[in-house]
Amino acid sequence: MPHHLLKATPTSNPAARISSISRHLLGGAQSTANPSFPSTTSVSSTQNRNFSSSPSANMSSQPEHPTLLIPGPIEFDDAVLQSMSHYSESHVGPGFVATFGDTLSMLRKLFQTTSPSSQPFVISGSGTLGWDLVAANLVEPGEDVLVLSSGYFSDGFGDCLKVYGANVDLLKAPVGSRPQLPEIEKALKSKKYKMVTVTHVDTSTGVLSELQKLSETVKSVSPDTLLIVDGVCSVASEEIDFDAWKLDGVVTASQKAIGCPAGLSISMFSGKAMDAFKARKSPPASYFASMKNWTPIMQNYEAKKPSYFATPSPQLIHALHTALSQILTKPLSERFARHREVSDKIKKAVADLGLTQVAGNPDDQAHGMTAIYLPETVKATDLLPKLAKSGVVFAGGIHKEIVTKYVRFGHMGVSVTDPARSDIDKAIDALKSGLADCGYQKA
Ligand SMILES: Cc1ncc(COP(=O)(O)O)c(C=O)c1O
Repeated sequence: MPHHLLKATPTSNPAARISSISRHLLGGAQSTANPSFPSTTSVSSTQNRNFSSSPSANMSSQPEHPTLLIPGPIEFDDAVLQSMSHYSESHVGPGFVATFGDTLSMLRKLFQTTSPSSQPFVISGSGTLGWDLVAANLVEPGEDVLVLSSGYFSDGFGDCLKVYGANVDLLKAPVGSRPQLPEIEKALKSKKYKMVTVTHVDTSTGVLSELQKLSETVKSVSPDTLLIVDGVCSVASEEIDFDAWKLDGVVTASQKAIGCPAGLSISMFSGKAMDAFKARKSPPASYFASMKNWTPIMQNYEAKKPSYFATPSPQLIHALHTALSQILTKPLSERFARHREVSDKIKKAVADLGLTQVAGNPDDQAHGMTAIYLPETVKATDLLPKLAKSGVVFAGGIHKEIVTKYVRFGHMGVSVTDPARSDIDKAIDALKSGLADCGYQKA
């Protein structure tokens, strides 16, 4: 068995997972509401609907609130939020069917696929539903899956696959790095894998995986193996060239770089993945996450024909339609370049402060988030409330081996692309002054 290739065992104690997840959601150990902005924790529904006519320079026309710079959910554009207040309409009426159909077609552009056999899915649920979609439809009980792990979320994908009966081998990299091609190649030669999964950006470490060379390796050593990407923390901030890189599936969610409220599982599968699904000997192992149930619905919507399996959320689909329309007004290459440029600036500021990143190798560093090791003398529980006082929300750690030692700064979407916003400069200044207030001085 290659180095680091571990037989996956059921690692997750549910209580520990839930407490770890709570930290993730609550910005780390600081789980109380931000005392500087008490009203934002209870924004009334009227405030939510009525956008002020005098937008503040920084926060557009939304009620004043701390700038959310965690690695998802992210800040929203006004127009995306306003789309959520669309009047009620039938989910099988022509207006909504057209909106949903266009949304699916726009996803093909976002993922850069023109192959007619590629199949997009948009299903109510969070990013985790994408894991279930893969596990319930593309693997059968007892089939072998190689899970490349660069952190907490990669392991979670492996856990989900096991729930559906897959035989999971975890190729686990040391914290802050990713499995390397030679060891992946060795693993692929050791066994016939039905699927390889990779987490493009593991949100627990900020480690970026390289997809193109990985795909070349998988396709040359084991051409039948499906390559499935968790792109929850990468789609719309990192380049993904679905066809050119011969990916078989990318699963993501609405609330990160796409910039739409949480609640949608968004995915794209290749013709080869869809064929693997069709060739199953056993029925899909889920009812709600069944591709058998959803594929005709997605195909009908895209053909602008009404169709029903389970009620979609029209308001969220409207928001996604707006978010995708905005993203696609400019070449995607510009969007990715902008995320790189802003990420470089943040990483330089972090280095100038004398701090290091969890993702050690610059080639392995994500461009939509930065996981920053804290100085030994500074605790996340002291720093995060100071950032909150400056109006900036970062997340605490989530990777269990280093959980108290770092914080996470999300820099995706409008906070990066909207020139009218000064979110990033504000966050860098808050980090500097927050660290100083915690008594830190660069050595
Ligand atoms: C890389 C990655 N995968 C999967 C998930 C799960 O997504 P969700 O929390 O939307 O279910 C997350 C959430 O942060 C993530 O960052």
